[in-house]
Amino acid sequence: MAEADGFAGGDLEKAGLRLSVAGEVATVTLARPERRNAMTGHTWQALAHVGQMLPEAVRIVIVRGEGSTFSSGIDLNMFRPGGVAGETSLMDRVADGSADDAELDRVIADYQEGFTWLRRPDIVSVAAVRGHAIGAGFQLALSCDLRVLTDDAQLCMKEPALGLVPDLTGTKPLVDLVGPSRAMELCLTARSVSAAEARELRLAELVVEDAELDGAVDDLAAALLAVPREAASATKGLLQGASARTLQEQAAAERRTQAGRLRALAAQAAETRG
Ligand code: CAA
Repeated sequence: MAEADGFAGGDLEKAGLRLSVAGEVATVTLARPERRNAMTGHTWQALAHVGQMLPEAVRIVIVRGEGSTFSSGIDLNMFRPGGVAGETSLMDRVADGSADDAELDRVIADYQEGFTWLRRPDIVSVAAVRGHAIGAGFQLALSCDLRVLTDDAQLCMKEPALGLVPDLTGTKPLVDLVGPSRAMELCLTARSVSAAEARELRLAELVVEDAELDGAVDDLAAALLAVPREAASATKGLLQGASARTLQEQAAAERRTQAGRLRALAAQAAETRG
């Protein structure tokens, strides 16, 4: 992993993250187990940096948490006097008048970049969720393409209970997956969703026993890697655009994308023949 722009490996650790890359698979680990992998603004900036610096060879990104909890969400000290060492909380900046609407927009957009890259068509992202995924932690799991949960996992969109809204790009995938009414019920009650319910609601592709989580994620990664890279990213792009297109538009997108694939495969075959 290249180190640049103030996010050397040690800086990632300070931001509560670890990154390991093995060939085509990158693993991003939330690594503050003593705080149940609570995240801060620095964590989200570091996540965005990981997305920018990901080696080109990487096709699968696994996001996991160290210890018993995927993530307890935002570090609640961000809302308390004194905040988190080395970070200025947005709440303090609003209170002291140093963050106007434009500044808030800029800072939150910056945090959101830590989440949006996980949907890039050139990778498939998989959240391996053990235990709780609360607030920002749930939104991080929702930012991934696929979710594998342990059978004791619990998902909770806690933000409204704290007087806030979910703003780390989780609302769209939530609505896309469970529909607007169920999304509203989950957010406006801020209740926990068990792993069994998460599977029913299509918030989890797989639910496994705790001891099987790593193996199940590895098997999934291997199955995803068995499909050729270019076909996988072209197909992901098509699927991602499907809900925003009419049937005719989607059919046209399929034709365009397939023409590109056919050309690429024909060129490849010609090259092999020499
Ligand atoms: N921020 C800061 N510290 C946290 C934390 C958080 N989000 N979650 C846990 N911790 C700390 C605890 O204070 C505790 O510290 P001490 O050892 O110093 O007492 C330590 O981590 C262990 O916590 P628990 O003993 O509570 O661990 P548990 O395994 O029994 O429970 C948990 C785990 C269910 C995640 C529970 O800790 C919990 O409910 N945490 C708070 C979750 C929360 O409300 N998060 C905010 C969501 S909103 C959001 O994320 C988005 C937003 O932008 C507002």
